[in-house]
Amino acid sequence: MSSIAVIVSEVAEEMRAVGSRGKVADYIAPLAQVPLDKFGLAVVMADGAVHTAGDADEAFSIQSISKVFALTLVLGAVGDQLWARVGREPSGSAFNSIVQLETEHGIPRNPFINAGAIVVTDVLLGRLQPREAIGQMLRFVRELAGDDSIAIDERVAAAERETGFRNRALANYMRAFGTIHGDVELVLGTYFHFCALAMSCRQLALAGRYLMNGGRSGGGGADSHRVISEKRARRINALMMSCGHYDNSGDFAYRIGLPGKSGVGGGILAVAPGIASVAVWSPGLNESGNSQLGQMALERLVQRTGWSVFEPRPA
Ligand code: DON
Repeated sequence: MSSIAVIVSEVAEEMRAVGSRGKVADYIAPLAQVPLDKFGLAVVMADGAVHTAGDADEAFSIQSISKVFALTLVLGAVGDQLWARVGREPSGSAFNSIVQLETEHGIPRNPFINAGAIVVTDVLLGRLQPREAIGQMLRFVRELAGDDSIAIDERVAAAERETGFRNRALANYMRAFGTIHGDVELVLGTYFHFCALAMSCRQLALAGRYLMNGGRSGGGGADSHRVISEKRARRINALMMSCGHYDNSGDFAYRIGLPGKSGVGGGILAVAPGIASVAVWSPGLNESGNSQLGQMALERLVQRTGWSVFEPRPA
């Protein structure tokens, strides 16, 4: 089997030749301007080695991938109390769907659809002011990635605020059911800032190390420290596997076999527990709002490495 470094550069090279790249998200204006030919891949191994290819150092809007970090923060703040206000089941619906909320009494299916992440944000705001919550999120991802240059793209946050009518509908609807407790505009403003985090594939893969390392950040050596418990890391990975790609989650599990979370900026964070944290970025999306080339690249990566949570691991 080729070395990881070779596989990473081969996969990136192959992606250059792919003609059908999907469509960039156009409901958030700054995302519509991102060139379709961008592609980045970063793989951080458990031993700390980092392999990158293509535009792996260019920052992009991580969008819904931030829902993983928001969930981690809120579980740290309130623990299992969260589950009274949001479920843990795949939705089988689009990321921004409202249909299940009526029959399910305003409780979103999981924390990775928009409605669920809006609730997560509201729970965080039960303890923090919006400014503090945004600051906490920024500090958290900077610390996870070991990179203080990570920032929030205010243009993206502002564009989402202007056009976030569906999110406003979801939040108001849940407010009517009592699932959202706070001021809807403050909750949404905070949620939009989380989505507007700009990170490169390298930064994102580094930030994902705690999910690969049973809850510990860093390279596993002296610089590593516990972010969350092993059990919690396992559970977040389980939710990423079952709910991380919306109505495309089953297909992602089938094709890639790793916990993953996508965003409409075209990024995907995928975790091979004990082995690697992987981030891929290509802005063209498939019909479910997940990166088309990103999924294809991950599929090729796992085919060649054998990485899968369903694969017996060598003792
Ligand atoms: O709220 C939204 O619609 C966006 N800020 C995030 C959506 C998203 O990334 C869904 N992912 N595929």
